Amino acid sequence: VNKPLAGVVSRGHELLAEVVGPGDLVVDLTAGNGYDTLCLARLAGADGQIIAFDIQPEAIESTRQRLAAAGFSPRLHEGGERPLPRRGGIDLLAAGHELLAEYLPAAPRAVVANLGYLPGGDPRIRTSAEPTLRALQQASRLLAKGGRLVVVVYTGHPGGEEEGAAVSRFFAELDQGSFQVIRFQVLNRTQAPYLLAAEKMPGST
Ligand SMILES: C[S@@+](CC[C@H](N)C(=O)[O-])C[C@H]1O[C@@H](n2cnc3c(N)ncnc32)[C@H](O)[C@@H]1O
Repeated sequence: VNKPLAGVVSRGHELLAEVVGPGDLVVDLTAGNGYDTLCLARLAGADGQIIAFDIQPEAIESTRQRLAAAGFSPRLHEGGERPLPRRGGIDLLAAGHELLAEYLPAAPRAVVANLGYLPGGDPRIRTSAEPTLRALQQASRLLAKGGRLVVVVYTGHPGGEEEGAAVSRFFAELDQGSFQVIRFQVLNRTQAPYLLAAEKMPGST
């Protein structure tokens, strides 16, 4: 069966599947409707720990429902305990991803973000450059060696171009001795979303 050539979300999931396995600690910075959280939950399994952030109650609920329909029982947190204990299962956090370092119990194997606004939700509630960069800086510092940071960027909404430019610059400036960085995008379409991914090299300091 031919897969679509250009799906940035599914390509992102493939990049995650190459490094995430049973028992791993992984993070979704933008739970949204839960597609990425569910992907991570399946890859990390019952012994894995999945920590998913979102600032919007609608997104937390949508993710909870998607996970429940797939047989998972996430724990819900309204802030509270930091760092979270290291344990198996899914922690759904009603908190901003810029607080990533405060909540993380250990080095994550993968961190994913899907920027922009909640599909089907309020388009005014969206990610923005400053908190996104803070989260990505923490993620790149804390990521386990061999781990990956996978981000999907959309530029068609207000503020999207600016955020995308800032996030692209962040990836492009990651130290080449410590990270390998790629970008994936349809080139013959305007405002096509794109995928940025970085792998922390096993030999990095
Ligand atoms: C494009 S959606 C995510 C889609 C999701 N990954 C999925 O698989 O369905 C972006 C989400 O980021 C959330 N968001 C915006 N700013 C945030 C922040 N500072 N911290 C955490 N989530 C944030 C929004 O509420 C929205 O639900």
